[in-house]
Amino acid sequence: MFNLFKSAIILAAGEGKRMKSDMPKVTHKVCGKEMINHVIDNIKSTGIEEVTVVIGKGAEKVKKATEDRNVNYAFQDKQLGTGHAVICAEDFLKDKDGTVAVFVGDGPLITKEMVEKLYSFHEDGNYKATVITSIIDDPAKYGRIIRNSSNEVEKIVEFKDCNEEEVKVKEINSGMYCFDIKVLLENLSSLNNNNAQGEYYLTDVIEILKSKGLKVGAFTVPVSEITAVNSRVELAHAEMLMKQRINKQHMENGVTIIDPNNTYIGVDVEIGSDTIIYPGNILEGKTVIKEGCMLLPNSRIKDSIIEAGVTVDNAVILESKVGENTTVGPFAYIRPNSSIGKKVKIGDFVEIKKSTIGDGTKVSHLTYIGDAEVGSGCNFGCGTVVVNYDGKEKHKTIIEDNAFIGCNTNLVSPVIVRKNAYTAAGSTITKEVPEDSLAVARARQTIINDWVKNKGLKKEK
Ligand code: UD1
Ligand code: CA
Repeated sequence: MFNLFKSAIILAAGEGKRMKSDMPKVTHKVCGKEMINHVIDNIKSTGIEEVTVVIGKGAEKVKKATEDRNVNYAFQDKQLGTGHAVICAEDFLKDKDGTVAVFVGDGPLITKEMVEKLYSFHEDGNYKATVITSIIDDPAKYGRIIRNSSNEVEKIVEFKDCNEEEVKVKEINSGMYCFDIKVLLENLSSLNNNNAQGEYYLTDVIEILKSKGLKVGAFTVPVSEITAVNSRVELAHAEMLMKQRINKQHMENGVTIIDPNNTYIGVDVEIGSDTIIYPGNILEGKTVIKEGCMLLPNSRIKDSIIEAGVTVDNAVILESKVGENTTVGPFAYIRPNSSIGKKVKIGDFVEIKKSTIGDGTKVSHLTYIGDAEVGSGCNFGCGTVVVNYDGKEKHKTIIEDNAFIGCNTNLVSPVIVRKNAYTAAGSTITKEVPEDSLAVARARQTIINDWVKNKGLKKEK
């Protein structure tokens, strides 16, 4: 088959009153990503370059949310209906020959496969318009698909315009379509607003094409792919549907998810096989979890790379890397721009900020490491603090391979602890510690004998 020009329009100018929100509806998130971006990303993943988003209410906010997506914007000043919204995008279609699909910004559950099939169904069938439909038990407020005696789509009737018979129809309009660009442009101007809502309905184009004897197709998909979000209750429903879809895909790829209802994985997260995920984990952004990891309960991992065989327990890891076979937690906090090596132990109540930690190093408990470069094979005693901030500026600390930091050491930055050196417990280190040495930086202990008795504090039996 020859390659037709393919483009897409996303309608996103409406306000979404029922969300009761200061944010435009399409910028609300489902599984960690704005609804509008789900729609854009799915369309673009099929190779379609030319995507136009129709914006109006909250236009600047929608633009901001989509700024890195490389889309065109068409502006709809007044929300006069879905047909009028498409007219606003006309400039991007003029003089073009091919197909345009129309999607809605509040329908985040579309998939790459569904978009691909829509275009091929439309083109293979030589249709001038194709409507995506769905058959559902409770057709609620969706527009109804009315078929003629030959079972062809005759028209779409909006819920508010339905008569008694029409309202009973269980086949609904998803609000998503494919059109022949030329045919669409020729007929948009025939729309009127003589209907219950006084709007220019895109749905009326179907009846117009039909009346001219043009071929209209219906492409039926499961409702879980076209469900639209108009309220917070529907937002939660979309979240549930997408979560199920994401988690199922990971399980099919060989990931164990102990309780899929309580595991929250973003759409763009990658997970290797034989990783086991306990409940309460939240994996966000562009996180990659490699093979054979153990995610014990209740961690949040965002935009991070977790190499194979890592165990994470009740931790927060943000924009960082964790090397193979390292353990993190319980109760650890790894802040952005940290890079943890292989076979490292980051234990309980440890915070790492913008630091690198070399292979095999152990930071077992109650420690803060910030703005530091730590070598391999080091050991941090309990309660170590890197004093990286002097109240004005942050400074860097370097700890070389195999250093041993005694319990309750303060490392006042900038400072260097050289290879194999030790710091004595309770030391406040302010000067470089040379290789192979021991630094003791604390007051020497003195004993005052019989001090208690002489003070008269001793309790007599
Ligand atoms: C629309 C369809 C209905 C379908 C339903 C599926 C029409 C007339 N009706 O109804 O048949 O079952 O979607 O979800 O098309 N928008 C604009 N500009 C406007 C109006 C709407 O950009 O002037 C955008 C909205 O931001 C939204 C989308 O179009 O993203 C759908 O609008 P909405 O008002 O939610 O349409 P529905 O009444 O749900
Ligand atoms: Ca809607």
